[in-house]
Amino acid sequence: MTSPPFSIRPAKAEDAAQVSHLIGSTWSKFFAYSVSETDLEEYLSGPLSAPRIQADILDPSMRVLVAVESSGNIVGVAHLVIGQAPTCITLPKPIGLRRLYVDSTHHGSGVAGALVQAVDTLSKKEGFESVWLGAWDQNARGLRFYEKMGWKVVGETTFMVGKSVRRDFVLERSI
Ligand SMILES: CC(C)(COP(=O)(O)OP(=O)(O)OC[C@H]1O[C@@H](n2cnc3c(N)ncnc32)[C@H](O)[C@@H]1OP(=O)(O)O)[C@@H](O)C(=O)NCCC(=O)NCCS
Repeated sequence: MTSPPFSIRPAKAEDAAQVSHLIGSTWSKFFAYSVSETDLEEYLSGPLSAPRIQADILDPSMRVLVAVESSGNIVGVAHLVIGQAPTCITLPKPIGLRRLYVDSTHHGSGVAGALVQAVDTLSKKEGFESVWLGAWDQNARGLRFYEKMGWKVVGETTFMVGKSVRRDFVLERSI
C-alpha cells in the first residue's frame, strides 16, 4: 500500500498565514456569492485573518491540525474547540469541530477523510466521546461529506458572516 502524499500534524504558529489563506480562499470560492462584499471583507480580515488564526493555533482550548504535502504546502485544516456545546447535542463528552477546509484542488482526494480520522484520534486521546459541528444549511457538499462520515443533524443554530446571519445545521457523531 502506498502512503498518502501528505501528512497530518498539529499546526504551528508560523503556519498561520498559510492556514488563513487556505480557509479564506476556499471560503471565498464556494460561499462569497452568498454575502455582500462588506461582509466578506469583514469575515476575511476578522476571524479568518492570519493574526486571529495564529491566536487560535496558540489558544490552549483549541486544537488545529493541518494536512501538509512534502513540499510544506498546507492543503487542509481541521480546527477543534473545547468548550460549551449547543443544547441540542445529545451525545456525551462532545468536542466542537469549528472548521474543516480542504484546498479545492484536493477535494475528493481523501484529505478531508484523513483529517477527520486525525480529529477522531486526537479527540479520543483527550477523553472526548463525540464531535459536534455547525454547517451552513446551503452547503450541500459539506453536508453530504459529513453525512457520509456518519454525522447526523440534531438541531439548528445561527452563524455570523460580517453582519449577515445564516442558519447552520448542528450535527453530532460518536467517535
Ligand atoms: C467539506 C470538505 C472538507 C469535504 O471534503 P471533500 O474532499 O470535498 O469531500 P469528499 O469529496 O470526500 O465528499 C464530498 C461528497 O459530496 C458530494 N458532492 C459534491 N458536490 C455536491 C453537491 N453540490 N451537492 C451534494 N453533494 C455533493 C460528493 O459527490 C461527495 O459524496 P460521495 O463521496 O458520496 O460521492 C470540502 O469540500 C471543503 O473544504 N469545502 C469547503 C469548506 C467547507 O464547506 N467546510 C465544511 C463546513 S465548515
